[in-house]
Amino acid sequence: MRLRGRVLMALYYTAAPERGRIWKSMIANALPDLEVRLAPEIGDPADIRFLAAWTLPPGLIETLPNLEVLFSLGAGVDQLDLSQVPDHVTIVRLIEPNLADGMAEYVAMMVLALHRDLYAYADRQRQRLWQPLPQVPARDRRVGVAGLGEMGRAALAALRPFGFALSGWSRSPRDLPGVTCFHGPDGLRDFAAQTDILVNLLPLTPETRRILGAELFGRMPRDAAIVSAGRGGHLDAPALVAALDSGQLSRAILDVTPVEPLPTDDPLWTHPRIVVTPHVAAATDIDGSGKAVIANLRRHLAGEPMVGIVERDRGY
Ligand code: NAP
Ligand code: GLV
Repeated sequence: MRLRGRVLMALYYTAAPERGRIWKSMIANALPDLEVRLAPEIGDPADIRFLAAWTLPPGLIETLPNLEVLFSLGAGVDQLDLSQVPDHVTIVRLIEPNLADGMAEYVAMMVLALHRDLYAYADRQRQRLWQPLPQVPARDRRVGVAGLGEMGRAALAALRPFGFALSGWSRSPRDLPGVTCFHGPDGLRDFAAQTDILVNLLPLTPETRRILGAELFGRMPRDAAIVSAGRGGHLDAPALVAALDSGQLSRAILDVTPVEPLPTDDPLWTHPRIVVTPHVAAATDIDGSGKAVIANLRRHLAGEPMVGIVERDRGY
């Protein structure tokens, strides 16, 4: 938007074109002094104060001398190379209710499927085996959620009505009603030892990379299962296959994989006790994410703190 021939400020959007077009019209209505430019039409790079991206096109950021805020188009920011981002640029991740709702649905669906042996019955159906398994009451099923942020808390809220024995693990101490909370590296050992179904909703950082590995699996009760919807970099895939093949783990549900899309010849596709979904646990809603970014732009322009600011030293 030009007023008196001058661009007041511009947001440069580099991700899916369809969402870009919708955001452009939402932002034009909400913030008429902000011009949205859709990649590759950058115009004068000096106009760009805000950048919205899923990943960072190499070399882009150094051409934007007046950049103030980088908006991640996801809840996570590990897909952005933060070392490219100058210190004065604020990095903001996406927090919006549809994302948490989607994750709550996915986790409830997968935990119930594991709890009620859905995949075991699907195997038996293929063998025409009419063979009931013992039914475990929810109060005796210990479900542990690693990561007690926006996603983890939404998942726990969805699981609570079923009566599972719930626990959670975070970096700093947390207190959640009805949830046994553990924290820090020492807490992980105790958390793992009492978890029958582990749901991974951690962000990917140097501390959490390959956390789903032999050491953690070995601490879990024999026959435990995992659901991973954090990031593929959390998983040590050969360690998972070894734990499944030895019977230490019974089943794994993976929404995120070390390489995405998962290559067609990857053994994770065909392992009989692995279920793969293609990074769909919680999709970004175009309208909800547009509203969340507009609300943050308004806060920033009013000199107020934005919601979802990433702490770079923590990496999330
Ligand atoms: P968040 O609000 O930042 O919460 C992160 C949680 O992880 C916090 O509880 C944090 O502990 C904990 N944590 C971080 N590092 C840790 C460590 N080293 N040890 C123990 N706990 C640690 O993040 P979120 O919005 O819930 O999102 C989590 C992740 O979900 C995202 O980063 C993304 O990778 C993934 N995600 C996936 C999908 C999908 O479709 N599959 C969709 C959305 C998000 P504190 O509470 O102490 O800070
Ligand atoms: C999806 O994985 C996200 O980080 O929002």
